[in-house]
Amino acid sequence: MKILGIETSCDETAAAMVEDGTKILSNVISSQVELHSRYGGIVPEVASRQHLLSIMPIVEKALADAKVRHSDLSAIAVTNGPGLAGSLLVGVNLAKALALAWGLPLIGVNHLEAHIYANWLGEDKPVFPVISLIVSGGHTELVLLQGHGEITRLGRTRDDAAGEAFDKVARALGLGYPGGPVIERATQGITPTYRLPRAWIKGSDDFSFSGIKTAVVRLAEELKISPSPNPNPLALDLAASFQQAVVDVLVTKTVAVVGKHGVNQILLAGGVAANKLLRETMVRRSPIPVLIPAHILCTDNAAMVACCGYFRLLQGKVAGWDLDVVPGLSLGSSK
Ligand code: KG4
Ligand code: ZN
Repeated sequence: MKILGIETSCDETAAAMVEDGTKILSNVISSQVELHSRYGGIVPEVASRQHLLSIMPIVEKALADAKVRHSDLSAIAVTNGPGLAGSLLVGVNLAKALALAWGLPLIGVNHLEAHIYANWLGEDKPVFPVISLIVSGGHTELVLLQGHGEITRLGRTRDDAAGEAFDKVARALGLGYPGGPVIERATQGITPTYRLPRAWIKGSDDFSFSGIKTAVVRLAEELKISPSPNPNPLALDLAASFQQAVVDVLVTKTVAVVGKHGVNQILLAGGVAANKLLRETMVRRSPIPVLIPAHILCTDNAAMVACCGYFRLLQGKVAGWDLDVVPGLSLGSSK
């Protein structure tokens, strides 16, 4: 079964072809990072206009790269939330139009669930029950998956998402945008020495990252570090200490949850899962196997959407023509 996935929830316009939920035939991503970097963050109106310009050529390229005609498709899967309303609308409306014109089932996909499904595109496959840590620019969620679509949320961030904290700290130090990759690159080989506060929130599996972020901003002021794309050693030490604190909290809390739920694997997901320190620390400290998507499948892409769509299609979860965008769509039921 070949499924076309479409993703436009944030600042990546993406389309991909995936066969039987596991084999990527094409994976086309057009990033708007450069467009938004001059503003230091995503400008929603700019994002939706750019999606409009890019989406058709991207879908055509996904079909061409996969050497697949639309008559070979089994369904079209599209992200319908969570995300920016104007951006989501571009993908959802195109998916509806194509599904109607080509006589194909339409599948609405939750973007956060799709991030988890990037783990089905690797060599080692998930075996339920599993825990997943989803760490992206807008979300930090710890969930239990007992089967396809059987998702229970165990914890989430109470304030900033992990990726958001990376972005804000990078901006405060003048390192650039998006924050995660620039902090990771700038701090390579730096040994962190600042002991930043970690929010453990005892008795809860929730996270909080605004305290760490504020501590970095205060220390930067105290140390008279002014934002600069050529950071001095103090700024780099601070950025490395921040990265270490965030990774420490993410890994410690995820590993603690594993002990309570008798699961087989930890699945990392979302843009921050591209972070080398997080990947290595999770593998080192986890008592069970850790699955981590390839870098390109951690950040936003449409292969994960097509993969998630495949498993939804197997369960008969097809959307109606009234499928709408849900910018605040949440993931699974709460504990
Ligand atoms: O999943 P994603 O591509 O988009 C959302 O759904 O939000 O995640 C983007 C986030 C950004 O905050 C970015 O700074 C972060 O992921 N990120 C990273 C890395 N690569 C991307 N954070 C830490 N280390 C990285 N290597
Ligand atoms: Zn994402």
